[in-house]
Amino acid sequence: MPFEVAGLGLELGGRTVLSDVSFSVRPGERVVLLGVNGCGKTTLLKALDGLVAPGAGAIRYGGAPVTPAALDDAAFRLRFRAEVALLFQNVDAMLFNPTVADEIAFGPRQLGLADVDARVARWASAFEVEGFLDRPPFELSGGEKKRVALAALMAIEPKVLLLDEATANLDPASAARLVDFLGALPGATVISSTHNLSIAEELGARAILLAPGRPGVCFDGPTADLLGDERLLAETGLSHRHGHRHGATAHAHYHVHDLE
Ligand SMILES: Nc1ncnc2c1ncn2[C@@H]1O[C@H](COP(=O)(O)OP(=O)(O)O)[C@@H](O)[C@H]1O
Ligand SMILES: [Mg+2]
Repeated sequence: MPFEVAGLGLELGGRTVLSDVSFSVRPGERVVLLGVNGCGKTTLLKALDGLVAPGAGAIRYGGAPVTPAALDDAAFRLRFRAEVALLFQNVDAMLFNPTVADEIAFGPRQLGLADVDARVARWASAFEVEGFLDRPPFELSGGEKKRVALAALMAIEPKVLLLDEATANLDPASAARLVDFLGALPGATVISSTHNLSIAEELGARAILLAPGRPGVCFDGPTADLLGDERLLAETGLSHRHGHRHGATAHAHYHVHDLE
């Protein structure tokens, strides 16, 4: 199992953000992490990446506990950082190198890989940022930055990708290309968060749903089943009952918001 999460609880600023969250992810699985703003998706992905410590319960990667303290161990850190990569929701927090080329080269250099230049060329091309290689990442647009960040993550060719709102800020064509890219990525385990139900099934056949103030996971199963459960989607805030008027006819139905 790449990840096993058992009874995870986490408080931030004195408030409970996650409580009693348990699930396992098998190698090669595609999981979409769903829930409205504030339900704890980012916090959970950061905990999986070892950036925030569990307050209760445990996260294990390949059987080893994942905590910031465990990652102080150089051997474990090197293996974990070579195998697991997190795309931050706020990509500005990830980009700090003077040029896009250095940004993509950073991970491979840190890991002491021999073929750094080839990896930069390959992944810059895959995410269509080869035209920006000499530019500073900070002056790029939001969507361009996201593509650079994705190229930088993929340059280490991780086994597990943790993607926090990966398609947010991308124009529809770039978002579709990313979804296709992830679909065609052989073997990788991918956990993607989104509140956009229209891409949920493409991001993962399995969905895990969180809701603010509710302990545990509200749903863990086939994404198609969750999307068919109007009551649960409405209860957890992912869809709303709206009144509509079509000419003289007024009716109400559930409506899913896909705005990001
Ligand atoms: N550093 C922090 N200090 C205090 N509260 C935080 C912090 N980071 C996040 N939170 C709170 O934790 C909850 C979950 O946030 P987050 O994990 O970002 O949710 P999501 O990604 O699902 O929108 C929110 O209520 C948010 O305000
Ligand atoms: Mg978030």
